[in-house]
Amino acid sequence: MSILKETDPEVYEAIKNELGRQRYGLELIPSENFASLAVLEAQGSVLTNKYSEGYPGKRYYGGNQFIDMAETLAIGRAKKLFGADHANVQPHSGSQANMAAYFAFMEIGDKMMGLSLTHGGHLSQGSPVNFSGKWYKVIPYYLDKETQMLDYDAIKKIAVQEKPKLIQCGYTAYPRVIDFKAFREIADETGAYFMVDMAHIAGLIAGEAHPSPVPHADVVTSTTHKTLRGPRGAMILCKEKYAVSIDKAVFPGLQGGPLDHVIAAKAVCFKEAMQPSFKEYAKQIVKNAKALADELMKLGFKLVSGGTDNHLILIDLTTKGMTGKEAQELLDKVGITTNKNTIPYDTRKPFITSGLRLGTPPLTTRGMKEGEMREVAGMIAKVLDSKGDAATLEKAKVQVKELCERFPLYKSMGA
Ligand SMILES: Cc1ncc(COP(=O)(O)O)c(C=O)c1O
Repeated sequence: MSILKETDPEVYEAIKNELGRQRYGLELIPSENFASLAVLEAQGSVLTNKYSEGYPGKRYYGGNQFIDMAETLAIGRAKKLFGADHANVQPHSGSQANMAAYFAFMEIGDKMMGLSLTHGGHLSQGSPVNFSGKWYKVIPYYLDKETQMLDYDAIKKIAVQEKPKLIQCGYTAYPRVIDFKAFREIADETGAYFMVDMAHIAGLIAGEAHPSPVPHADVVTSTTHKTLRGPRGAMILCKEKYAVSIDKAVFPGLQGGPLDHVIAAKAVCFKEAMQPSFKEYAKQIVKNAKALADELMKLGFKLVSGGTDNHLILIDLTTKGMTGKEAQELLDKVGITTNKNTIPYDTRKPFITSGLRLGTPPLTTRGMKEGEMREVAGMIAKVLDSKGDAATLEKAKVQVKELCERFPLYKSMGA
């Protein structure tokens, strides 16, 4: 930090201010987390200097003996952590991991089935503005209108009728457990490949707080920076028979040189996720989400699907006469960071929305438990019911800072 302060004070300032924002704000975005100092050290290492196109033992550049060590560790640990036959740890991001999986299993123009984006799917799972929606014929399925949960019979009906090449599950805003076995049966019955994007729940799966898709899916993609609490990046797990096609799809299919520093940090994160303390962490994320959800409901909020089984909560703001955008902006004013999100059958546009998405992974990393979640719910309720009253917002801002000070973040980084 001190070198940067001298050589590039402007960038230093941005990083310092972001550290302050993370320390003194309540981070409730379910796809974010606070990586450990060990992960940050590996990610900020000299491995960023190396070119290593190819895979361990088969590189297109010399001097890769230590890069091979790091990548081999990451591959071995990913396989062990999730019980997978094969792991590719090179995808730069979740979207690219999904792209590689599509490349490996489909031709351009093939049919794939995924959850409609407005019901909780991700852009890279078939949005018309994304490559996935432009290159493939996307057949959406929807959440049940009453329960706001997956309806496996309805999904099966669509699959039988449409016969897609690939069926996918694993979402960006779905607060319930996914029945991977049910999806496998649908895929088997209709002759489709079965793909799971476990980006959001990978940490819960590693910590045994959500069932694993690995025994059921042909291919599993994931980011490493959400509940898994590693560096920003992704990976792909698959059955041995698909290993060659997956590896070819990633390189040379769509990437050049891997980000070796990030791969080393992924190895560190996988080791952390194997520790018994990570199981405790994963279970606490879910306990905290349930406590936050229960308290919000007690305070009069309506939640999509009536609650949560995982790390994520989706508030339906229609009964509050407020949009997701308004709620997010009001909470931003007091240092509570959330994100606006569509709810199933939303009538508002994705930039406005009728929902607000919250998650507990970052605050659980800080050490907060159920009691603090109830405090946070109280703060959210006061702010959203305040109609922007300056005194209420000022009081909430002080409360947010006090709570953050009780659970210090990155203490050794100094002021
Ligand atoms: C389910 C899911 N898949 C993929 C992604 C994409 O990851 P990235 O932002 O690394 O491309 C996300 C991002 O939020 C996601 O929620």
